[in-house]
Amino acid sequence: MSVAIELKGIEKNYPGVVANHDVDITIAKGNIHAIIGENGAGKSTLMKILYGMVKPDAGTIAIFESPATIKSPQDAIGLGIGMVHQHFMLADNATVLENIVLGSEPMKAKVVVDYAKAREHLQSIIKTYGLDISPDDLVADLGVGVRQRVEIAKVLFRGAKILILDEPTAVLVPQEVDDLFKNLKGLTQNGLTIIFISHKLDEVMAIADSITVMRHGTTVANLVPAKTNKKELAEYMIGGELPSPRPATTKPREEKVLVVTNASANDRTGREILHSINLEIHAGEILGLAGVEGNGQSELIELIMGLVKPDSGSVVTVGLNTQDSTLREIRDHGVGYIPQDRQRDGLMMAATLWENRILGHQQTKPMSNGVWIDKGAAKADSERIIEEFDVRTPSNTVLANALSGGNQQKFIVGREMSGDPKMLIAAQPTRGVDVGAQAIIWDHLIEARLKGTGVLLVSADLDELFQLSDRIAVIFRGTIVDYLDPRKTTPEQLGLAMTGEKIA
Ligand SMILES: Nc1ncnc2c1ncn2[C@@H]1O[C@H](COP(=O)(O)OP(=O)(O)OP(=O)(O)O)[C@@H](O)[C@H]1O
Ligand SMILES: [Mg+2]
Repeated sequence: MSVAIELKGIEKNYPGVVANHDVDITIAKGNIHAIIGENGAGKSTLMKILYGMVKPDAGTIAIFESPATIKSPQDAIGLGIGMVHQHFMLADNATVLENIVLGSEPMKAKVVVDYAKAREHLQSIIKTYGLDISPDDLVADLGVGVRQRVEIAKVLFRGAKILILDEPTAVLVPQEVDDLFKNLKGLTQNGLTIIFISHKLDEVMAIADSITVMRHGTTVANLVPAKTNKKELAEYMIGGELPSPRPATTKPREEKVLVVTNASANDRTGREILHSINLEIHAGEILGLAGVEGNGQSELIELIMGLVKPDSGSVVTVGLNTQDSTLREIRDHGVGYIPQDRQRDGLMMAATLWENRILGHQQTKPMSNGVWIDKGAAKADSERIIEEFDVRTPSNTVLANALSGGNQQKFIVGREMSGDPKMLIAAQPTRGVDVGAQAIIWDHLIEARLKGTGVLLVSADLDELFQLSDRIAVIFRGTIVDYLDPRKTTPEQLGLAMTGEKIA
């Protein structure tokens, strides 16, 4: 076997946290190697070490059987290692080709970018690996799945032989996951080696040639899919048995927390972004919202929160007509909001956890008596969230950016569910959290419903929609095209409805 990557005895400590301890992983050339583990297990840290973004305290790395010192991403790229980050880094107002060339321009006579040569090189990459992208498309017009292919092409353009993908499927819908997996198989057939991080054990079982499980910073098992199963993987991850979500059936109440009547809205250029929306959520009901990303989900949330006012029709959120209410008023009236992009909209990354507890709740109890902010109360309530939502952190004075992705998410969910809101908008509430934490968050959502919160659950995870929703609304091109009963619908039917097909 020819070895692409060998990591030995890798150590990395942060104040109060052992991020990586005695990590040993060997990956054969041409393999897809999955790394799994709970939130905070040390997966991203290890990948950042391999890509030269984080300096390890100890340990050795060999790439293609030669010892390697990787001090920067430039070193990593020089060794043939490429990384696709979870948050894409493409420029919206440039074409696919321009984005791919950016930073590694082939030069004509050392002054002009040789786009003809770059185009030729890109075309050969597209052809060899069967990547479905078009060099002249504007990135702003592309969906998430295509953007990801552009990121992959960008890494290949720089000559990568090893590809690191940190949770690439978290942002994809099922159809796009299938496409990605076909592409990854194609890449390995051409000799590439791939490291793949995911919390979805089905995916790992389907795509990986080999699997490493990490727990508390260290490698606890190296396995092959043929000789393991999802249950065993989960047990290795958490060092015990998986909690099973509580089944719960409740009856929605009469009272409505949201009434959207025939609402349409235009964007600044006058283009219609939402068309004739009718939507009601009762207290004690979870309404799922299904749709391919970019079909109006974000705009609908903005409409409900009063950030976008309807051009016709009306929106009444927790009893307030949004036409004459501010976002602050609507929030303070009892609306919790778990945003889809946690780093941009959910947290101040350079502030402590207790400061983040106050964010968006400056004027509500227990953080404030209406005039003054109560630091002690913010700290105490942060402790409660850390405890109830199992946020793995040394203390509430740690900065948000020192938490692993999944633990940041758990903290936001805890904050937005504080004080039993009348309505909760939960956009991708379990994106990037591990299977154990997902069960915890699902339990909290079910409990909130029981207490009478009306929940709008926007999710790309069909399993989540089926498990939690009382009803599922399907959004397509800015309008609600269908209401489905999750007990009488198959995932395939829902998938079809999401592409605008009418199901009988
Ligand atoms: N810059 C940092 N400063 C302090 N602690 C950090 C820093 N980066 C990571 N950590 C800590 O190191 C540990 C491992 O984090 P890491 O991001 O590698 O986890 P992960 O396995 O990728 O988790 P997730 O599945 O949630 O993404 C966590 O406890 C995290 O809080
Ligand atoms: Mg991570």
